[in-house]
Amino acid sequence: MCGIVGAVARQGAVLQDLVEGLRKLEYRGYDSCGVAVADGAEIAIRRKVGRLTELEALLADGALASARAGIGHTRWATHGKPSDENAHPHSDGSGRMALVHNGIIENYLELRRELQAEGRKFSSETDTEVLSHLVGRELARGLSLADAGRAALSRVHGYYAIAVMAVGKTFELVAARQGPPLVVAATADAAWCASDVLALLPHTRDVIYIEDGDVAELSPGKVVLSRVDGSPVSRPVRHIDWDEEAASKRGFPHFMLKEIFEQPDVLARTAFDRILQLEGDVAFEGDGWDDAGLKRLERLQVVACGTALHAGYITKYLVESLARLPVDVDFASEFRYRGPVLVANTAVLAISQSGETADTLAAMRLARELGCRPVSICNVKGSTVVRESEAVILTHAGPEIGVASTKAFVAQVIAGFMLAVRLGRARGVLAVDDGRRLLDELRCLRPRLEGLLTEKTLSAVRRIAEKHVKAKGFFFLGRGVNFPVALEGALKLKEISYVHAEGYAAGEMKHGPIALIEPGMPIVVINSPGKVAEKVRSNIEQVKARGGHVIAIGADRESLALADDAIEVPDTIEWLSPVLNVVPLQLFAYHHALLRGCDIDKPRNLAKSVTVE
Ligand code: F6R
Repeated sequence: MCGIVGAVARQGAVLQDLVEGLRKLEYRGYDSCGVAVADGAEIAIRRKVGRLTELEALLADGALASARAGIGHTRWATHGKPSDENAHPHSDGSGRMALVHNGIIENYLELRRELQAEGRKFSSETDTEVLSHLVGRELARGLSLADAGRAALSRVHGYYAIAVMAVGKTFELVAARQGPPLVVAATADAAWCASDVLALLPHTRDVIYIEDGDVAELSPGKVVLSRVDGSPVSRPVRHIDWDEEAASKRGFPHFMLKEIFEQPDVLARTAFDRILQLEGDVAFEGDGWDDAGLKRLERLQVVACGTALHAGYITKYLVESLARLPVDVDFASEFRYRGPVLVANTAVLAISQSGETADTLAAMRLARELGCRPVSICNVKGSTVVRESEAVILTHAGPEIGVASTKAFVAQVIAGFMLAVRLGRARGVLAVDDGRRLLDELRCLRPRLEGLLTEKTLSAVRRIAEKHVKAKGFFFLGRGVNFPVALEGALKLKEISYVHAEGYAAGEMKHGPIALIEPGMPIVVINSPGKVAEKVRSNIEQVKARGGHVIAIGADRESLALADDAIEVPDTIEWLSPVLNVVPLQLFAYHHALLRGCDIDKPRNLAKSVTVE
């Protein structure tokens, strides 16, 4: 939610770097954007509602091209509609400071009244402008920018990542964090800050993730860290494995399509180095996955949001079946406010692509306070979820830029599967031979995934999408381990195609939702051979009897034969079928959205990495 960047260089112009940084961060919010730069005694601010291209047009006169320092922002509106006035950076009207912010200032109304009573004038509806005035007030009292920032932040309640700059006797750039992510880095002649390492990769792969309550002072070649109370602090420099190429489209028209096609490689990266074939087991890096610790567990509590939550539901089916350990799964946003009751020896498993989702983090912290051991499945190495976990399974999916999550989901499901095997083996519930058989199937999945990602599947999916491009709404049905796949298929379609889609447990249809089925309504049914395949076939018959147009996805031949349209998926064991079944659903959403002219990588109202509640 909102992306911020900042740069200060000894020599050389930073404007283009700021704009390129914002391009990498646009996935975090894209309703307006802006920059503030300084080259002398004045700060110039340019900001614009709309996408980055609008801002680039505004900067095309080259007037700011030689600036040696600046900050930038790409916005996902929380307070105040998307408009030029509400776009960041904000200032205090003095022309000598500017600030960008990601997060929410909860007590902004009270602070705004206080500042207005002192004669300060506001020009936007944002909560952020309050922070600019607070900093400006302290600067006017003669404080350094870092101290002014500290004083201002001590007055606000809420969460933030900020970058603030000021010109005076010298130029100053300060970044601080309480909640949303912020990385900083020093290179020989510059220093940088950003909401995501992706914006820093063109300059360096050695970065520092600052922690909540940290303040960073940036100057060319140097970053000085302290706490918000002024005490010094140091944080480790972390080397990032991702390169710039991994974050590019590599010739695909959209990030989403590129990321769907990366899934066979993602599977290999998430799984293969961890398989212990002879032992019928898996080995995760780091401490915390040893037999003794896992044997003690009496329950697993999964907390996650959106697509990651769906991977969590699948993990529940897998862990309960393969390891016989009870698993609860909850929306992180519900868990944190419902006063959860947790039994002793529960581990809380946070699942998150970004590792920065505010609700997931809060739920994980609450569970830890309640005595649970925090563990996670996460894609981003230095993220907050990872840093706050006692044990981590990194998914190694690489940067996911498309707002609709695809490859991260497949990686999470695979991590969940491996966790189930590890738990089963550690708890003595899964025999060596069974472990080997399961892991053999996992190894065979890569060519099957590749076999699914062919022109044949693409054109079959495209034809079905064309047929239903005008449909008012869709049902997605599944049972067992493929019920969460139905939820995920519906979510993908809603997110990027803006069509009403409902994911449902197929057996639950008859208890109400079946009333919605009218002749011709498209019903996507996911079915693979396994315990519930026959039951799902009966559900298909029930839908057909009411005139529903059935689109069957999966390896269950009989379901495919019953359906009006069908996409056959290679066979695998029931437990791994979600990894294959989700692919046609991702492609269906993609083609449907394409046919409807939607902005696939930047769907309306959404942003990746939801760092607000
Ligand atoms: C859906 C999607 C979101 C995320 C959710 C959690 O395509 O991307 O539903 O899955 O916001 O995000 P992470 O996994 O970063 O915690």
